[in-house]
Formats: sequence, C-alpha cells, structure tokens
Amino acid sequence: MYLTKNEERMLDGEEGYAAKKSMEILVALGNIYGAEKLVKIGSVQVAGVSYHNLGNAGLEFLNELAEDGKVKVLTTLNPAGMDLEDWRKLGIDKEFARKQNLVIGAFRKMGIIISCTCTPYFIGNLPRYGEHIAWSESSAVTFANSVIGAKTNREGGPSALAAAFVGKTPCYGLHLEENRVPDIHVNVIARLDKFSDWGALGYCIGKTVQNKIPYITGINDVDLDEIKSFCASVVTFGSKPIFYMKGITPASERYQPPKDKVTIEDRDIREAYASINDDVEEIDFVCIGCPHSSIKEIAKIANLLKNRKISPNTEFWVATSRPMKQLADKRGYTEVIEKAGGKFACDTCMAVAPLKGRFRSIATTSAKGCYYSRHHGIQTKLGSLEECIEAAVRGKWS
Ligand code: F3S
Repeated sequence: MYLTKNEERMLDGEEGYAAKKSMEILVALGNIYGAEKLVKIGSVQVAGVSYHNLGNAGLEFLNELAEDGKVKVLTTLNPAGMDLEDWRKLGIDKEFARKQNLVIGAFRKMGIIISCTCTPYFIGNLPRYGEHIAWSESSAVTFANSVIGAKTNREGGPSALAAAFVGKTPCYGLHLEENRVPDIHVNVIARLDKFSDWGALGYCIGKTVQNKIPYITGINDVDLDEIKSFCASVVTFGSKPIFYMKGITPASERYQPPKDKVTIEDRDIREAYASINDDVEEIDFVCIGCPHSSIKEIAKIANLLKNRKISPNTEFWVATSRPMKQLADKRGYTEVIEKAGGKFACDTCMAVAPLKGRFRSIATTSAKGCYYSRHHGIQTKLGSLEECIEAAVRGKWS
C-alpha cells in the first residue's frame, strides 16, 4: 500500500505510540484487503465501548492508546454497558460501573465525544453524501452507506479507533464504487402495516440475499425510524451493510434493478415473526430503542403510557442518547414515562448492558434486539410499539 511521507513518519513512531500502533493496524488491514492507499475520512464512530465486551484486556489496550493518542477527526462513541449518570437505577453493580467509567475516561482522554449512542447521525455526527468515514456499529454503518450515501466499511472497534488517530482509513471495500453496485433485486409485495414489520422485512431480506447487495423495489413510503430499524435488522440477519431502496435512498437512481430477482411476500413476513418469536407469555422486560430511540418514538411512547402503570413484574426501558432524553425532559415526555414506571436507559442498550441472567423474556419493537437478547438467554417477542406497551402494562404478551 502506498504511504505518504507523513504516514510513513507516523508508522515509524515519530508522532508517538498511538499513531504508530494505529498505522500498523491500518497498513495490515490495507495489505490484507488490497488497498492501494489510505483515504481521508470525515468522521469516526467507535464501537466496543461496553466493559461487558471489553473486559480488562480491552481496558488495558485503551489505556495504552490514551497515553498519547488524540483523535484527528470528529469521533463519537457507541453505547456503553450502563447509563453513565444513573447506572444504579438500571441495576448495574458498583464494580462494573467503576470499570465502565475507566473505559469512558480513556476514550475521553483521546478527545472522543462521549455520545454513547448507535444513532450518531441524530446527535451531530452526520456525514454528507459521498463522504468517506470509518464507522463501526453495523446498524449505523448500514444507515450511513444506504440512507445517507456516505462510504464506510463495517469497521471493528480497534480499526475505527486507528482511523480516528490517523484521520484516514484504507481505501478498499465499500470505499470503492465498484464494490457498491447492487447485485440482487428484491421486490417487496408484502404489506408492512406496523413498525416491527420493518425489522421482520430486514430479517427476510438479510436471510435471503446473504452476502449480496440488495436493490429493493416496491416500497413507496418509509419514515426515518422505520428505515433505521430496517438497517439494524437487514445487516444483523445477513446482508452486507448497504442496500438501495428505489425512490427512497439517494443513490438508488444511479442503478437499474439487477436481473437476479427475489420477491418478499406476506408469508415471508409471517415466517420471520414465527422464527423470531418464542413461545412465551409472561414478559418481565420491555425495551424500546434498538437502534436508539428518536424524539418522535419517545413522544409516541409517552402518549401510549399516559395515565397508565407498568406492571410491577416488568422492567421497562427506553434506550436512547442523552441529548434525546434532554429533549424529552423539556417536552415533558420523561415525566409521563417515569410516572408510569418506565426508565430511561441513556448511553446503553439491551445488547451491551450486562443483562445475562436478569430477565427471562423480552418484548421489543426491534428484530436486532431480539437477536441479541437471545444471546443473553432471554426469550423474545417482536411486536409493534402498541403491543410492547400493552405487554409492559399487563406483564404478559397477548
Ligand atoms: Fe444500538 Fe444496541 Fe441495538 S447498539 S442497534 S441499541 S443492539
């Protein structure tokens, strides 16, 4: 891979330990994937923030980099393992909180914005169409490539961090136009009536196209929350972190539907629910906000919970970013949700919080949330916001 003089200086350690280590990671990646050079990036999203996933080895790695490492571009963080301000209310233990705070301290020292959200595009990390970026977090990567039209590979935590310290990333994969061409036409004739149908659709398309890039037709309307849910699901269940939706995503006009064609029908959506949903009635956990809730979703939750009470046997979380919670505070939504017995889980989510063994069953609007909950050994129910709120109030799925 070609390196500029400045990049070689970094690789030789002239800009310090973090820059050298980062260059080593980027050069190794570039050589593996055949990149010809590094490309400048506009921003970074770093995943791998929860102490639950990092452990002591990860913390040590971050502390070493934080000694002299400073990010060169706008860099935001994925959710951590707890609400950074009010972890006790989420039942997080003190030792975990101490370790998580050490992780956050290392990121802060590097100059990273402690945003702790998987929807960085809602809170100020919004790339422009065509911009090269280096993001980790699969749902955000898919949103950036498809809905925004920015260019990023699906980075891991260390490679995203390395890109942040260098301000560049190896130019391969989805940074190159020739690798962004759709190769399968997915025509959707299924009815998509409720919010969770978008997660179910992501399941169907992800499973069907696997490693191909889908060009989706048949969808005339989708709102931002629905497409963010779809992004999370389609990449979780199979496809590459990019898709085109005719008439909806900005680059869809550049291509014609590929010849290879599949159709998604009502029956496929029904089968997706059958596969995601477990046979469970009692619900002891309801979590909305995967990916993190927008202010519009929070408004809907508040509206549905007005003058109602969540079952004493059920824990109810709204996972969101802190800035979104602050808007909810101002608008009075927080008061309504908390009065009903719900909790805000800022900075964290159901997948990265240490939940193993705490809950038996979850109801959520997110197909991706179901996928990760099963990894925690939790039985799952995917449904609309109305169904999930009903489950929270009754403590039962109906
Ligand atoms: Fe975000 Fe966590 Fe879902 S990182 S996409 S809320 S699993």
